[in-house]
Amino acid sequence: MTIRPIEIQRTTAKKQKPDQQQLGFGLHFTDHMFIMDYSLTNGWHQPRIVPYQPISMDPAAKVLHYGQTIFEGLKAYKTSDGRILLFRPEKNLHRLNNSGRRLGIPPLDEEAALDALQQLVAVDADWIPSEPGTSLYIRPFVIATQPALGVDPSAHYQFIIILSPVGSYYPEGVNPVKIYVESHYVRAVKGGLGEAKTAGNYASGLKAQEAAKEKGYSQVLWLDGVHRTYIEEVGSMNVFFKMDGTVYTPALNGSILDGITRGSIIQLLQKWGIPVVEKTISIEEIYEAGRKGTLEEAFGTGTAAVISPIGELNWQDNKLVIHEGRTGELSAKLYDTLTGIQSGKVEDPFQWMV
Ligand code: COI
Repeated sequence: MTIRPIEIQRTTAKKQKPDQQQLGFGLHFTDHMFIMDYSLTNGWHQPRIVPYQPISMDPAAKVLHYGQTIFEGLKAYKTSDGRILLFRPEKNLHRLNNSGRRLGIPPLDEEAALDALQQLVAVDADWIPSEPGTSLYIRPFVIATQPALGVDPSAHYQFIIILSPVGSYYPEGVNPVKIYVESHYVRAVKGGLGEAKTAGNYASGLKAQEAAKEKGYSQVLWLDGVHRTYIEEVGSMNVFFKMDGTVYTPALNGSILDGITRGSIIQLLQKWGIPVVEKTISIEEIYEAGRKGTLEEAFGTGTAAVISPIGELNWQDNKLVIHEGRTGELSAKLYDTLTGIQSGKVEDPFQWMV
């Protein structure tokens, strides 16, 4: 295919870069952004890189009322010899289109979107941090911009990519977090939006997350929306449990996000010869393994935090401490290997890096 030329308008006022030791997550943004428009008559058109700036929007834009929007998250790293690496970016752009299909958003040309993303990262390459545990988080997203209050798919959209130098997602870093098992609120149901990366899934989790925080927990473990029995995700991450030498993760069932880190962890475990099983997992099963002493480790996986060990669960006031509340050996090895591959320090046996 032919990739449309991207017009590049460089900033004349470069921003001061933040201290790499104090980045936090998603708090600082680089000098430029990518933007492209969609209309029914012209399709996706006018791809451009411009100085980072606010976007103006009609107050009636559909995204503001009906949440017709999708997003992705991926990271760029700079290697010690100065190369820029992206972790499996084609997977994110493919998932963006899958999410778009669910939300009635017209598909992007994935190859052209990857080209745009790479050009933007190259323009802002001096923003990629180099301290251990840091990276440049890339946030592509699509918003419905047609000013119209009828509930139907928008006729206009914008595809935007912004970049943010980040440190660890949780202040705990790779130390274990305490998790409240949510029995009242649910994140998603089969046939709903759970598989799509869309704003509403994250908004629907906020109330439970805040309630968990008030009780001293970092996040919630989501159970299924019908039985409140089967484990789905942890916070905004996929979840894994190691029991009796085997690693289990909930099977993708239509309400769970098909995580790219999740898929990569499964591949790594298989390569290491560690049995890994995708199946329906009940919360009773986890507590039973805890009682028997066969629950060895639990951890969340996602782009933002990579691996986040779980040190304690609280389900209906029953506390279950996992691996004495310390980071397990497998969690640590997975974190080191995956971030090692991502930052170019460890050989990439899967050719994941671009
Ligand atoms: C992830 O990358 O794990 C997430 O989905 C969190 C992100 C929305 C900040």
